[in-house]
Amino acid sequence: MNYFSQESLGLQRFSHVIILLLYLSIQIRIYQLSEENVMENFDALMISKDEEGQKVKWRRMAIDDLMEGDVTVRVTHSTINYKDALAITGKAPIIRRYPMIPGIDLAGVVATSTHPEFKQGDMVLATGWGLGESHFGGYSSYARLKGDWLLPVPAGFTTADTMALGTAGFTAMSALLALETHGVTPQRGPVLVTGSAGGVGSVAVSILAKNGFKVIAATGRMGERAYLQGLGASELIDRAELTGPVSPLGSERWAGAIDTAGGNVLANVLSHIQYSGTVAACGLAAGMELPTSVAPFILRGVTLAGISSVMAPKAHRLEAWSRLQRDMDLTKLKSMTTTRPLKDVLALAPEILAGKVRGRVVLEVP
Ligand SMILES: NC(=O)c1ccc[n+]([C@@H]2O[C@H](COP(=O)([O-])OP(=O)(O)OC[C@H]3O[C@@H](n4cnc5c(N)ncnc54)[C@H](OP(=O)(O)O)[C@@H]3O)[C@@H](O)[C@H]2O)c1
Repeated sequence: MNYFSQESLGLQRFSHVIILLLYLSIQIRIYQLSEENVMENFDALMISKDEEGQKVKWRRMAIDDLMEGDVTVRVTHSTINYKDALAITGKAPIIRRYPMIPGIDLAGVVATSTHPEFKQGDMVLATGWGLGESHFGGYSSYARLKGDWLLPVPAGFTTADTMALGTAGFTAMSALLALETHGVTPQRGPVLVTGSAGGVGSVAVSILAKNGFKVIAATGRMGERAYLQGLGASELIDRAELTGPVSPLGSERWAGAIDTAGGNVLANVLSHIQYSGTVAACGLAAGMELPTSVAPFILRGVTLAGISSVMAPKAHRLEAWSRLQRDMDLTKLKSMTTTRPLKDVLALAPEILAGKVRGRVVLEVP
């Protein structure tokens, strides 16, 4: 009798332990599921299109809603470029696939990777490659994309610094490299930058000055004199000087130029470039058309070098970012950068198109 009661007591204790263990494992799983839920559910800006037009909304997403890719990045920072503003406002047909998460640039930390060059925890950045146009972009806490599109964050830069530069900084450096390729040196004469108070313009002024060029900053905001001189501009000219009627050839004023404006501005710039000088053209803030003649090309040997950042090959990107690492003064970068939360991007888009945003904006992604 005694023997049986001891045995049943033992069994009872054993079953209590089992129940306790089961209870604990259920609690742990519930905790794990809630953690995964936090990890995998996040906010993204989504642009969709129907018969009524384009709709821009914040949407709750899961990792599985993202597009194909061999690397998933926890995005910590993005930025707003002129092109992002065109996409968000629908002012130009930037988006080539709907629905789309905009944001042509992103930087963050690798969350998962099957790409041989990247592992969990690596700090990375991506610009262009169709991000925010045909592949989900940077206005999202997570991005899944091709590892081939990623670059490691250069030493000395934070992820925020890389977005302070972003496509704008990469484009400005690509333009400087093009001027150098075509033999424009500080000894040849001054270099003009148009749209100089904007994103590409501000970086262009800084890196040209760092390389010893005398920089002439053309701007519609003459009140930004102290800002532009702080970045390294030697002189300012009013944008209005370049918006009037175009004469085929004008006086030879500049050895080279980085033009972000296009339109009449670019046509006027071309007619004032010195013999065998070069203009690196990257933008269209003043318009798509180019009302020029062949005179600067056939009478002065001027080169018009086109700059396109989106599909630039990796070798060129690595060269440009390594030059940015060398030439971009971080104090100047700070002076041209404003930091805002991602949710402010909707208010910033019309402001950037109206030419009211100075320098660069870093967006903090929650
Ligand atoms: N080719 C590429 O791969 C590439 C890459 C990046 C950018 N972009 C293009 O480069 C341009 C600049 O981009 P961003 O990101 O630097 O834009 P941003 O920050 O908005 O700068 C544009 C600047 O252009 C000037 N501007 C505005 N309206 C103008 C007008 N009507 N006429 C002449 N100038 C005007 C303004 O500077 P001021 O007030 O100083 O005059 C403005 O700040 C855009 O057209 C963009 O699409 C091209």
